[in-house]
This record gives sequence, structure tokens and C-alpha cells, in this order.
Amino acid sequence: MMTTESFDAVDVIRTKRDGHRLSPEQIDWVVDAYTRGVVAEEQMAALAMAILLNGMDREEIVRWTHAMIDSGERLDFSAALSLPTSDKHSTGGVGDKITLPLAPLVASFGVAVPQLSGRGLGHTGGTLDKLEAIPGWRAALSTEEMIAQLESVGAVICAAGSGLAPADKKLYALRDVTGTVEAIPLIASSIMSKKIAEGTASLVLDVKTGAGAFMRDEADARELARTMVDLGTDAGVRTVALLTDMSAPLGLTAGNALEVRESLEVLAGGGPADVVELTVALAREMLTAAGRTDVDVEAALADGRAMDTWRAMISAQGGDVDALLPIATDTTEVRADADGVVTGLDAMQVGVSAWRLGAGRSRPGEPVQAGAGVELHRTIGDTVRAGDVLATLHTDTPERFGRSVEAITGAWTIEADATVPERRIVIDRIA
Ligand code: URA
Repeated sequence: MMTTESFDAVDVIRTKRDGHRLSPEQIDWVVDAYTRGVVAEEQMAALAMAILLNGMDREEIVRWTHAMIDSGERLDFSAALSLPTSDKHSTGGVGDKITLPLAPLVASFGVAVPQLSGRGLGHTGGTLDKLEAIPGWRAALSTEEMIAQLESVGAVICAAGSGLAPADKKLYALRDVTGTVEAIPLIASSIMSKKIAEGTASLVLDVKTGAGAFMRDEADARELARTMVDLGTDAGVRTVALLTDMSAPLGLTAGNALEVRESLEVLAGGGPADVVELTVALAREMLTAAGRTDVDVEAALADGRAMDTWRAMISAQGGDVDALLPIATDTTEVRADADGVVTGLDAMQVGVSAWRLGAGRSRPGEPVQAGAGVELHRTIGDTVRAGDVLATLHTDTPERFGRSVEAITGAWTIEADATVPERRIVIDRIA
């Protein structure tokens, strides 16, 4: 039977291509028709590019976000749980393993953390890919399993079910392969449609800026943060954003098992200072949003409470917390060619190198290597001598070393007699 569609995809594309506003009805239709498969992938690709080039105003972004929410089901954790809920989302960065220590840390204070996470996008790693490095760990949970785990453990990190914002699932994959990721309206609506649909009561956004972020420019990152905070607040979710530095990688590892190992160091009360600082800052925001202001966050890392919750969280999803993490079969070293102080370390170059080593995908659905990635030995502020090892690269496929070394070469800026200002991880707070 022929059904009549209310609009024509080509007219919608032309409207945005020519710099006009999309009407609410056009937006509702195009998102729904794309989800139904009536608007073809190439048509949505053209529209996404027109949006990237010509933008959308506040009303269009709100409507687009709600059309994506309406493409699927809505959960309501707040109603299903006896505990308050708090969630965080990062716009994606290099070495950004913060969710791993953060979720159990916040849950150790009796606040439920439902983390519906994704896989790697471009040069940025995905939380699910990282956790899958743990033998036995399972990303796919039913809604009932999630709610049961939130009640018993307090934290769950799992894949978003296919019913949650299916329009975003299709569009996210399409943007990844059509050069249309870096558009504020598309990033804001992608993130916020999932977060509003999952029904968290409060949300803390980690909006990254700098070389390794999708928004390299600070003004763009601020605009993205403002847009997302307004979308969340208008939808009844208590939302704040931290604007954070992604000019250099977070911590000293980029790659799946390598990042799990570093997260375990943080949960054991150690770990790199920048990872600890951001984990603690985000935990404070999440706990405050859930009404817990009188807690000593650092103490829960130092005394093992967060580690206990981690072990319960990983075991509940089949993970063997005592198993050895996978190690890549081959390594090579990158060495300094000058004496001096490291004044810069380009996050994008490190991310691309880890990705080329096999930590990320070059095609949708491709498996990633658990052991692959970059282990940094020198970072910003460190003194180096020519010949020192700056990084060890890990992979199971040594034929990848050539392109990975090429990607990371020149990532360190080494200057003689330079003084390096202290790195500020949290640049601003936007509420
Ligand atoms: N994370 C998302 O969920 N969507 C984007 O568009 C970018 C980062």
C-alpha cells in the first residue's frame, strides 16, 4: 500500500542548504522518516552537512532533540529506583577513561549512576570498548537487569538499548563516516536526546575543548555547553557542564586495557593527578546535583570504598575482576630527539596513533584490540633528555607501527629552559 508522506526530503535539504530555518513539522517528519527508512542515508548525509555548514537556531535544536527522543522509548530511572540518580556525559576525548572510576565512586555514596555508554567515535575511545577488555564483561543488559543492578550495586555502565533514541543511533554512525560530527546542533541533540530519554534526574556534562576534542575552539565548546545545559534544564533535568581541557591526553594511557589499568590505579587511591582531579571534580558535581553536599569524595578513593563498588559493578556484568588484563603481543618505543622540558603534548596525535594501533575502528562494527594503544612516559612539565623513551606503542599487529609512529611523531613540544604553567583541567563551570 502506498502511504503519502507529508514532506519531500529534497525540499527539506534545500531549505537548510539555502540557509533557512526548518519548520517544526519538517523536523518532526525528517527525523521520523529517516528512522523509518523513508529518508535515505544519502539524503540525511546531505542534510547533516547543510546543518553543519548553516547551523540551527535554538528552537530548531530543541525540536530536533525532541524528535530524536520521540523516535524511541523513554525510561524513567527516577521513578523505578529508591535511590537518587545522577549521570554524566563527556563529549569525547583522548585517554578519557573518567567514567570507569567515576561511576563506582559516586555510587559508593548511595547515588545511583546509570551510564548508558557508547563505542569509540573517530579518534576518541569508547567506554564500552574499554570495559570489554575485562574478560567476561558484558555490555548488553535488559532494562530490568539495569534497574536490578542499580538497586543492588548502585552503578551500571552498559550499552544503550536499541529502543533509546534510535534516530540518534543511525545518525551517529552516518555522521562518523560523512565528516559531520563537529556540528554544535548535531552533537548537542545527539547527547541530550539520549540523556533526556533515559530519564536521569540530574546530569553533569564534561565538555572538552582543545586539540583532542571535537570542539577544538573554546568559544565553540562554551556554546555547545550552554546549548546542552539549556536543553536539559528545559526538559526538567538538573544539568550543569564543566568545560575541561583536552589539549593534552588525560592521564598516561590511550587504549582499552591500558586505560582500565590506569582507572584501577585511581580506584586504588593513586593514578595520574589530572585523572584524579577530573574524577573528583565531576563526582562532586554529580553528588551535589543529587543533593549530597557533605561528603569527602577523595576519602572514598583512598579507603577502597570506590574500589569495592567497582568490583561489584564489574562482577554483576560477568567480568572477572581478578583476571589479568590483555597485553598486546608487540611493542615499540618513541624516543626524544632533544633535551628540554615538555611544554605541549598534542592529544589528537596521540589519539590517532592509538586508533591506528588497533584501539579504535576504521569501519563500523569492526572489532577493536583490547591490548592496543599508547603508554606515555613523558607528559607536560616533564624534563627529557635526547634518547629518553617518550612513549611505548602496543599492538597485536606490528605492521601498524609505521603509520602509528608517523601519527605520534612531533606530538611532544620540547623546549630548552622553559617553565610550564600548571595545567588547569577544569576551565569553567556552566549552569
Ligand atoms: N557523543 C555523542 O553521543 N554524540 C555526539 O555527537 C558526539 C559525542
